[in-house]
Amino acid sequence: MGMGVCTKTNGFKAVTFGVILFVLLNVLFNYFSSDADDTFSFSKLSVKRVTISSSHLYNGSGESLVHNINGSGQKTNPPESEFNISDSNDTPAPRVILNSKTWAKISVENKTNNSNTTLPICKDPKPNAGGPIKPNTTLESLDFVQQRLSSTVMMGGWYRPTNCIAKFRVAIIVPFRDRYAHLSIFLKNLHPFLMKQNIEYRIFVIEQTNGKLFNRAALMNIGYLEALKLLPWDCFIFHDVDLLPLDERNLYNCPNQPRHMSVAIDVFGYKLPYSSIFGGVSGMTREHFSKVNGFSNSFWGWGGEDDDMSNRLKHANLFISRYPVNIARYMMLTHQKERANPKRYENLVNGVNKFDMDGLNSIKYDIYSFKEYPLFTWYLSELKMSDQR
Ligand code: BGC
Repeated sequence: MGMGVCTKTNGFKAVTFGVILFVLLNVLFNYFSSDADDTFSFSKLSVKRVTISSSHLYNGSGESLVHNINGSGQKTNPPESEFNISDSNDTPAPRVILNSKTWAKISVENKTNNSNTTLPICKDPKPNAGGPIKPNTTLESLDFVQQRLSSTVMMGGWYRPTNCIAKFRVAIIVPFRDRYAHLSIFLKNLHPFLMKQNIEYRIFVIEQTNGKLFNRAALMNIGYLEALKLLPWDCFIFHDVDLLPLDERNLYNCPNQPRHMSVAIDVFGYKLPYSSIFGGVSGMTREHFSKVNGFSNSFWGWGGEDDDMSNRLKHANLFISRYPVNIARYMMLTHQKERANPKRYENLVNGVNKFDMDGLNSIKYDIYSFKEYPLFTWYLSELKMSDQR
């Protein structure tokens, strides 16, 4: 009997312990799983202010973030098979499985153009309007920047003039990895700069997952392909996140010939390093870009991919156009340099025979995550090609 009591008490204790353990495990699981949903969250950035100055030590290479905006060195999400779409209040939206139906839904919503068709076509800014500007390089949290700009910019970093119909619909494609501080400064400066230009535009940030070497060119191809699922953009400006324009006469519209925009960068002494350079910031129409089969996907690590594009343009009888050095001026934000790809010259030589096989028609990637943030549209993408060079 004594034994029986003992067993009952123990049994009761075991059940109580089990229930407590179950509740505890649930709490822990919920805590971590909700966190895991959002390990990459720009809205979690703290309101820290640090001033980032432009570097005068740039030697032509570079990735790797100097200041991490949240100070945590937080990396991006592990691969997921789902993606998030936020609603206009940026409250977490229901998670949906990535499928063509979803894309179709986004496309239809976003393709709806200005409903007021009685508006006149926008005029280009006058050639002598505007002039030199001084970027604001004070680092603020994205929340802070968003608060100031979100009344004028639509969700996803999308803008169109309200009093006229834009002549140009421009997708700004930003290849990205790790540079959160730069992104905040970039958005803070670029939106007000672009809003004065009478163009419709949207900023697309294409981030590469961890694991493989950075492939700037492939990310720009992805940006082109994904942006076209939302709207038939007239042209594309491929933009490094660390470059800030210094003159308002530098128009981000659609050029008749491909346009190299970052002609005069402070760290290069405001001089063009060589005549065929096409890196930093460059603009191409949809037709130009598809004609040359986009960028090569074979350049892993720093350098060469823009030189290969330069070769593609020549091959397609296109010419690099440029604004003069007093207009096409940029400042570069400080960052540590990345080791240049030692095989970039070899790739360049081999690339000449591969324009038709290596590019938009050969890229392999997955989109793990998609989200419309107030100031930009974000894609987290994994490249499925091998980075073995
Ligand atoms: C690289 C280019 C780069 C240029 C300027 C060249 O050596 O191949 O990719 O744009 O230097 O930094």
